[in-house]
Amino acid sequence: MRHVTLVEIFTHPIAQKYLTRSGVAHAVSVAYHAFRLSVQHNVNPDLATKAALLHDIGHYEWYTNGQWDYEKYRQNDIHAIKGAERAHKLLIRLGEEPQAAKEIALAILLHTDSYLPEGTIQQRPLQKVVKLADEADEEPGGKHHYREMEYNLAVKKIKELDKKVLELLHSNQFKQLG
Ligand SMILES: [Fe+2]
Repeated sequence: MRHVTLVEIFTHPIAQKYLTRSGVAHAVSVAYHAFRLSVQHNVNPDLATKAALLHDIGHYEWYTNGQWDYEKYRQNDIHAIKGAERAHKLLIRLGEEPQAAKEIALAILLHTDSYLPEGTIQQRPLQKVVKLADEADEEPGGKHHYREMEYNLAVKKIKELDKKVLELLHSNQFKQLG
């Protein structure tokens, strides 16, 4: 049973605040990639799409003289840590099942290893799906964060994805953990 839908998450003011900062089009696109990859890797599509939708909500911008500084970002970024915490708080607030909220938060925490000492993580399938989904939509220089998508179109796409997830959940059995 699903406690929270993607639309409920996406339309929440906290998600809107952070997703408009890190890129709505990127979040929607990564959620779709995660759905496709969850089928391929046999992981729970509910957890995968939620983690994918929220994977970048820990982002903030780095500025030097009014310009976004990509190098500074690469050196100082901890968006996966902030994102995992924000996502967990939001999911619990919306009534998500605590174990699911933890798995989603962990998938966000480990969706990138760019901020970690080399060779320190081994990703489980759910975490790998979110990483691959993110990489499938990445553009050089962080340009994927700036593609735009109008709110109503994003809501429509997220609703369609909710439907796909529900159909897949009904037609399949998934391990609860990623
Ligand atoms: Fe991303």
